[in-house]
Amino acid sequence: MSYLNLIYHTQNMNRTTLVLGACGQIGTELTLSLRAKYGNNKVIATDIKEPDLIELKEGPFEILDASDARGMRAICEKYNVDTVYHLVAMLSATGEKFPMKAWDLNMQSLLHALELAKEKVIKKIFWPSSIAVFGPTTPKQNTPQQGVMEPSTVYGISKLAGERWCEYYHNKYNVDVRSIRYPGLISWKSQPGGGTTDYAVEIYYKALEEGKYTSFLSEHRTLPMMYMADAIRATMELTEAPLENVKIRSSYNLAGISFDPASIGASIKKIVPGFELNFKPDYREEIAASWPESIDDSQARMDWNWTSKFDLDSMTVDMLTNLRAKLQLS
Ligand code: SER
Repeated sequence: MSYLNLIYHTQNMNRTTLVLGACGQIGTELTLSLRAKYGNNKVIATDIKEPDLIELKEGPFEILDASDARGMRAICEKYNVDTVYHLVAMLSATGEKFPMKAWDLNMQSLLHALELAKEKVIKKIFWPSSIAVFGPTTPKQNTPQQGVMEPSTVYGISKLAGERWCEYYHNKYNVDVRSIRYPGLISWKSQPGGGTTDYAVEIYYKALEEGKYTSFLSEHRTLPMMYMADAIRATMELTEAPLENVKIRSSYNLAGISFDPASIGASIKKIVPGFELNFKPDYREEIAASWPESIDDSQARMDWNWTSKFDLDSMTVDMLTNLRAKLQLS
């Protein structure tokens, strides 16, 4: 190995991965998975608040407000960051209550990261988009990768604008940015907050704790969903895919399981026989009604071999088993 190669190699060996929003629903599990793969000290966790989960402190943890450009740059320089997983966002339901805050947070934090990549402070960005980029005028079944996109929520508008910025930075400045349009995500380790799809997590907690649940979406409101284990795998697979395989620089459609509140209720009933499910739709019903029911993810399958593993019943078994242990229920 030549001297220059050796220096290059050593510099790269010392580079780290940064997670923005490490205490959130996705950030928590992603940080733990990345650390399991690359080592605790190679993954820098950041969030605006201290973690509740003590495991997140087993590697470097820094308080960072992702809308603070200087703070983000300082941490990237301090830890010689190579890849940034940007998981900071205000979700759809909260975004409707605080439209300007949602726009500012979702946009500024992304643009700060894109600027750092443009200036070669960092090399790669993963940033999530969402099924919320689609709107009432989009075909609902098997929604294609490209087509009509007229989102009706602030969250969706910010994600669609973010996708355009990602592609723009890639085309203009050769920034290596990768993205997935996540469906609603279901997890037991950390809770979601402020999303329209959150009912599909709450329902499992309530089934175990109270034996009943009242859904804020209507009985047959079908949405695209995914189990967190699949989402984390997709995130890491896309981010680590060879450069030439990543053809889409806006955001990839990704499909897991499509279901409605009635079907997840039926799946839970197989394990919690007396489970009682009621429906009282609120303002989130209208948001959900504007989104697709199922997603065509053939581009992700083709480009980086994506395939989901969990179906509704296998997710239910895994969720209830893990939640029972977590909540210390017999
Ligand atoms: N889970 C998100 C939400 O409900 C959608 O990306 O806002």
